[in-house]
Amino acid sequence: MSKRKIIILGTALAMALASGAAFAAGDASKGAEVYKKKCLFCHPTNPGVHKMGPSLAAMFGRKAGTVPGYHKYKGLKDSDIIWDESNMDKWLANPKKFLGRRTSMVYKLKNAKKRTNVIEYMKWLK
Ligand code: HEC
Repeated sequence: MSKRKIIILGTALAMALASGAAFAAGDASKGAEVYKKKCLFCHPTNPGVHKMGPSLAAMFGRKAGTVPGYHKYKGLKDSDIIWDESNMDKWLANPKKFLGRRTSMVYKLKNAKKRTNVIEYMKWLK
């Protein structure tokens, strides 16, 4: 390989790494701690197991308010939301404000970093 090609490849790699850092996702292991402390009480992680809230297994890409076997939806019933990172962040920050109507999830996770981390963890729940 020519020296020039190596330099171009090196630059591309550095740029990829830099942009990766710029969009740094959350830390799933820190998110697991947040989840245990703040969410698990209402949201089991096993599919099909529900408490005050539904199981949060496999949330991303799912239509909100449609977890099978959970019948206590209030605000999310008939909503037109497909969960992604961006709307999940807004939901967790302030469910009622995000929905624009009453919801039975009264909890707010105000710390943005904790939200990013817990979202990263939730991606692992299958
Ligand atoms: C006090 C109980 C409680 C706590 C604590 C709580 N939730 Fe919820 N959550 C609910 C309830 C109840 C709903 C259903 C809301 C509705 O339909 O209005 C819900 C709904 C959700 C949904 C949407 C589920 C779906 O089927 O679309 C997500 C995602 C969610 N919660 C994430 C979290 C996360 C992450 C945390 C921790 C940071 C958390 N919740 C903390 C009770 C809770």
